[in-house]
Amino acid sequence: MFAKEKLNYQPVALPDRHHLTDEQMLEEARAFHTFMQRRHTVRDYSDRPVDRAVIEHCIATAGLAPSGANHQPWHFVAISDPAAKHEIRLAAEEEEKQFYAGNAGDEWLKALEPIGTDADKPHLDIAPWLIVIFAQRYGVFEDGTRYKNYYVPESVGIATGFLIAALHHAGLTALTHTPNPMKFLNGLCGRPESEKAVMILAVGHPAEDATVPAVAKVKKPLEEILTIKD
Ligand SMILES: Cc1cc2nc3c(=O)[nH]c(=O)nc-3n(C[C@H](O)[C@H](O)[C@H](O)COP(=O)(O)O)c2cc1C
Repeated sequence: MFAKEKLNYQPVALPDRHHLTDEQMLEEARAFHTFMQRRHTVRDYSDRPVDRAVIEHCIATAGLAPSGANHQPWHFVAISDPAAKHEIRLAAEEEEKQFYAGNAGDEWLKALEPIGTDADKPHLDIAPWLIVIFAQRYGVFEDGTRYKNYYVPESVGIATGFLIAALHHAGLTALTHTPNPMKFLNGLCGRPESEKAVMILAVGHPAEDATVPAVAKVKKPLEEILTIKD
C-alpha cells in the first residue's frame, strides 16, 4: 500500500518458515502439480449456491499476492445478486455478439474455434458468483490526488492466479471470461475511472453434464516451457 507520508524501511524478522526435508519438498511439489492438473475451466455451471464466506476467503488469498512496491493495485467485486448478474450477462453478450460477428478478426476466431465458445453466456446467470477483477491503473488518495502504481498487469495477473488456485482448493471451478471490450463493467460495478476491468471470473460448481474442450487439456510438455542451465 502507498501512503501519502514518507515511510521508512523497517525490517521485521521473517514471520513464517516452511521446514521441509528434500524428500518432503519433492513430494509436495508433485502433489501440488497433480492437484493443479485437476483444475479445468468450466463453462457449464450448476446453480448450487456457494457460501459468501468461501468467496471472501478466496479473495483474501488473492490479496496476499506479491505486487509492484506492494501497492496491491486490484479490486474485486463479487456478485451473487441474480439481477446484477443478469445485467452483466446482457451487456457482455452485446459485446460478444459483435466480437464473434467479426470484430475479433479471423485469426482470433480461428483460435477460439476448438474451444467452442460463442456469444451466448448463460454461465453469467447460472454460476452462483461472478467476481469482476479490476486493475487500479493509478491510485487515488482520499483527497483526490493521484499516485502511480507499478507493474499493474503483472501484479493483477499474479493475484488472479492466486484466486483461481484458492477457488480450486476450495472445491470450486472458475471460468476466466473476458468480454471484449469490458468498459461497461465500471458502470455496472460502480468502480471509478482509475480502474480497468480485466476479467470476470464465473465461480461455482460444474453442471452434472459439464464438458470441457479436448484441446484445452493439451498442455505444452515441460521440455517446451522450461530451459534449465545448471
Ligand atoms: C486471460 C484469459 C482470458 C480468457 N477468456 C476467456 C473467455 O472470454 N471465454 C472463455 O470461455 N474462456 C476464456 N478463457 C479460458 C481459456 O479458454 C482456458 O483457460 C483455456 O482454454 C485452457 O483451458 P483450462 O483453463 O481448462 O486449462 C480465458 C483464459 C485466460 C487466461
